[in-house]
Amino acid sequence: MKNKLSTVKLGILGGGQLARMMALKSHELGIKPYILSAHPQDPATQVTPHFTQGNLNSQRHLKKFLDKVDLAIFENEFLDPGLLYEASIASNTPIHPMPKIMHLLQDRLNQKQLLQKHKIPTANFIELRSKKQINELSHLFPKGVVLKKRHQGYDGYGIFIFKSDAKNKTIATNEKAKQFISKNKPLIAEEYIPFKKELAIILVRNRKKQIIELPLVETYQEKACCLWVKGPYRHPKKDLLVKKLKTMLNQIDYEGVIAFELFETKKGSLLVNELAPRVHNSGHYSLDALSEDQFSLHIKAVLNMDLQEPMKCAKGFAMLNLLGEPNPGHWLPPTGTILHWYGKIENRPGRKMGHLNSLNSSPSKALNVLLDFHSQRKK
Ligand SMILES: Nc1ncnc2c1ncn2[C@@H]1O[C@H](COP(=O)(O)OP(=O)(O)OP(=O)(O)O)[C@@H](O)[C@H]1O
Ligand SMILES: [Mg+2]
Repeated sequence: MKNKLSTVKLGILGGGQLARMMALKSHELGIKPYILSAHPQDPATQVTPHFTQGNLNSQRHLKKFLDKVDLAIFENEFLDPGLLYEASIASNTPIHPMPKIMHLLQDRLNQKQLLQKHKIPTANFIELRSKKQINELSHLFPKGVVLKKRHQGYDGYGIFIFKSDAKNKTIATNEKAKQFISKNKPLIAEEYIPFKKELAIILVRNRKKQIIELPLVETYQEKACCLWVKGPYRHPKKDLLVKKLKTMLNQIDYEGVIAFELFETKKGSLLVNELAPRVHNSGHYSLDALSEDQFSLHIKAVLNMDLQEPMKCAKGFAMLNLLGEPNPGHWLPPTGTILHWYGKIENRPGRKMGHLNSLNSSPSKALNVLLDFHSQRKK
């Protein structure tokens, strides 16, 4: 820390909803949040006076910003890790997780190889080096193929799902798949998993090697974008998986929150789909359902403070993403639910505008309240 006697100045790279929630929580921890973002009206700029307008891809802007703060975190792993590293060295300000971790984990191919190295189950995959390989894919993955951009995919942007069926047997004859490959290089191709459920789990690690886990949850995606989350979810293979994930985090010396998206197969296995080296949508429930939320835990972990597994505030909890919803000044959230609104200036169909949390005596009861609201809103 540059000055131990003054309040810690926490730099946050990015101005979206994740940055906003980290900024709000840092205020509660007595830490001053500083935001670097290109847009003065971004969600995070509205909750702190310390806003710098700047380009996250400019070394000069990064360095100038890092000079002002004691340490920095990010809300999005798709920044240039080389630029971050240089700016961090030049300003003598650490960035957590470290830029080399960002470099490792922002590439889906590296993620898959890291999981394989630690014998962590994941869908079979190949690196797609040339267009010609499309001819082999249906043979390699007979149930279907999922093409994924190696970098920068999110909310289903950057993936192409091809399920094999009787009418449309091969991906090699599918025009949309060919266009996707031409547009989105470099790519990986993985087997289609006809999963029973999608799950997620968040782990938090500090440099003292303390690692805590948040509850396993079920997540539900519509058009490859998360609609809701409910939990806790019990699974007999969770503990073994978590043990392997912890070993992996120790090996890469990870610091902060990390989220793992999982598939539960019909035969009851757990596969890791992808991981995100930051706070994550699947953990937004923690703002109300746990004694300590993912945002505070992330900040504590990067400051190398002690971590304690949070307590659950209810037997069941759920979270609903408010996608493309107008400002809540025009509608009322259902009684007993907790609204988190991100303050985005522009509303677009499918855009994450906020979320609702709900607690109840079971996960399904908590979710039902949110789903009733969701179906009324759609009418
Ligand atoms: N191998 C697969 N088999 C079946 N469905 C898949 C597979 N990979 C991805 N999907 C589906 O597509 C969704 C999005 O995929 P994934 O999470 O890998 O990409 P993303 O667009 O980067 O999403 P995110 O916003 O979570 O980063 C998954 O939640 C799942 O519903
Ligand atoms: Mg995902």
